Amino acid sequence: MKTFEEVFNAAPDVIASASGRVNLLGEHTDYNGGFVMPTAIPQQTIVSLRVNISESFRLYSAALNQLVAFNLSKPPTEHFASYIYGCLRMVQNLDLDIPALDIHISSNVPMGVGLSSSAALEVAMLRAMRALLNLDINDVEIAKLAQQAEIQYAKVNCGIMDQMAASLADTQHMLFLDTRTLEYEKLALPENTEILVLDTGITRSLAKSKYNERRLECTEAAEFLGVKELRDAKYLSVIEKLDEPFNKRARHVFHENNRVLQARKGISAIEFGQLMNASHTSLKDDYEVSIPELDLMVSLLQKNNDVYGAKLTGAGFGGACVALCSVSSAEVVSKAVLKKYNKAGNHGRLIIPPVNPLVNQHVVKLEKLNFVG
Ligand code: GLA
Repeated sequence: MKTFEEVFNAAPDVIASASGRVNLLGEHTDYNGGFVMPTAIPQQTIVSLRVNISESFRLYSAALNQLVAFNLSKPPTEHFASYIYGCLRMVQNLDLDIPALDIHISSNVPMGVGLSSSAALEVAMLRAMRALLNLDINDVEIAKLAQQAEIQYAKVNCGIMDQMAASLADTQHMLFLDTRTLEYEKLALPENTEILVLDTGITRSLAKSKYNERRLECTEAAEFLGVKELRDAKYLSVIEKLDEPFNKRARHVFHENNRVLQARKGISAIEFGQLMNASHTSLKDDYEVSIPELDLMVSLLQKNNDVYGAKLTGAGFGGACVALCSVSSAEVVSKAVLKKYNKAGNHGRLIIPPVNPLVNQHVVKLEKLNFVG
């Protein structure tokens, strides 16, 4: 991995970072106007930039060891660059002149496993732009711009959860978020617990197409029910009268929203775990976004005595699982579960707690510079 100085022969003007997220409860509710409960993960993305004196932007990805050049009149063809380009266009739309920049991105947020590496990249980039141009925009506005960058330029029709989590969550709290009003509240994790995240090793191949399909089914279900969004569907008895699959999709959203509201009340670890288990069952049977490997990993986690509850996290169709464990047990649980899971020929791996919290060391070094969190 090359540093900013090695790529651009100068020091950055600004450095900013943002975390990935893991969602504990409230899956596929954000585009239905509902409730979610993510928390930030220790892994972060760092964006460093400086104004250059040329006409074109230069963007370097440390993970890909790739340098691309572009200007604002034409989107770059490289996928990773479209996130940065989208953020730049969002800032430009605020009626601002943007100077050409040299941009360096580095990250240890795992990609393609449902931990919001793209939202971390967008939010880190927008934070860097806020610092560079002294923009008067708050963290909620950053999240909204980041979501629009993703929808319009990376062409993923996502909800607002990931960007709100990257912009507002921290690793010490759960972020309760009402995705319709964008009101949020930071809550303590259930007492004496810790978070474990394991990757199934299966890439989320169908995530994009099936995600869009689920969104459409929800819009249709809401139309059948005569409500603005599924969040407004108040009666299960009416939902049950819909045809398949609309009844199942709406039932998932109905119960999942209630689970988040329940968890918000400040419940015990045991109760929280039960809600996570129920969430997984609903994602598997009603929302149909699980796959056999996710189900296997979740059931191995759920059978472990130190685990209160476990579920898939993010969009589904591969990627990671999250478990709520008793404090200081996550690594031991991870070893036991991965041993059984990988015996079946799988390639599962531990993601949180991070084995090697590299970025933390990175951040300590960067604090000496103009570092914006
Ligand atoms: C992806 C999307 C989010 C959300 C989740 C499912 O992560 O980006 O907006 O819909 O899936 O909960």
